[in-house]
Amino acid sequence: MNRRIFTKAILAACVCLGALPTWADQPIVIKFSHVVAPDTPKGKAAERFKQLAEERTKGRVKVEVYPNSQLYKDKEELEALQLGSVQMLAPSLAKFGPLGVKEFEVFDLPFIFKDQAAFRAVTDGPVGAGLLRKLEPKGITGLVYLDNGFHIMSANKPLHHVADFKGLKMRIQSSKVLEAQMRALGALPQVMAFSELYQALQSGVVDGTEGVPSNFWTQKIYEVQKHITLSNHGHLAYAVIVNKPFWDGLPADIRTTLEGAMRDAAKYSNEIAASDNTSALEKIKASGKTTIYTPTAEEINEWKKALMPVHKEMEGRVGKDIIQAVYKATGFVAPK
Ligand code: LMR
Repeated sequence: MNRRIFTKAILAACVCLGALPTWADQPIVIKFSHVVAPDTPKGKAAERFKQLAEERTKGRVKVEVYPNSQLYKDKEELEALQLGSVQMLAPSLAKFGPLGVKEFEVFDLPFIFKDQAAFRAVTDGPVGAGLLRKLEPKGITGLVYLDNGFHIMSANKPLHHVADFKGLKMRIQSSKVLEAQMRALGALPQVMAFSELYQALQSGVVDGTEGVPSNFWTQKIYEVQKHITLSNHGHLAYAVIVNKPFWDGLPADIRTTLEGAMRDAAKYSNEIAASDNTSALEKIKASGKTTIYTPTAEEINEWKKALMPVHKEMEGRVGKDIIQAVYKATGFVAPK
């Protein structure tokens, strides 16, 4: 049988069996990988996106959410996105350095955002949009920012004064700014994947960490850290990013619908982030397993004095222009 006749015979058999595949029947699958628990602002954003995307495309898109580093850890998921093994991620902005876009580390500068509004002034404006555009040459499209509030600090000893950090091994995300921050406090920074944190604290591989209450609660960090300080010295946020060739290859109507679904999921997540973190902190307090300390104004000034030089020190890494642009958007006045 020549090839044409063979193909026709197969097609005829398929038609008879009612099994001829039409591509329109196949949903477009989006694998969305992330490293935190489903019951966190980011986890809920992913679930809300899934729900809206599937509803609004009437099943033409199927979103598979993989939380808790189930598929990939921090660094691997960025590689997987570029290779197209997953299509969507929401890494913390502190993890974009390995992609070669160091400017995102501006978000890690200590005490750069006095409140959520200051952070939003950056992400909702031209600075935020310009940063996302820098991802394009890396084969990545940035869709939206997700806000997850301010960092707290923990260890198995009280952290009130800068001197309390001396010699402590502190886990950080893979950001050079966070590394400089911990060094400025006299600590020894250790980059580590989020999924390894609990074990590392439990076994003493590291002594402490910074993080947000929703992650401290869902990862049970409070079980292995005796003291928490509500320092609000840093800020945690994410960008939802997609594989650009995949995204550009979607039918235009689907892409527009998905962009709208993601905008709405981000709006929802940003609205609940603060209350989720407050309730996580209350649950941690109620567990009785750790102390929660609110530093005095004098103590915060002491931290600021130690940490502000990091802004200048990191100009070479992050870029003076971007730091100035963030100062301008937030009204931040750099200390002399
Ligand atoms: C961390 O690694 O501490 C955070 O980026 C985890 C997260 O995604 O919230």
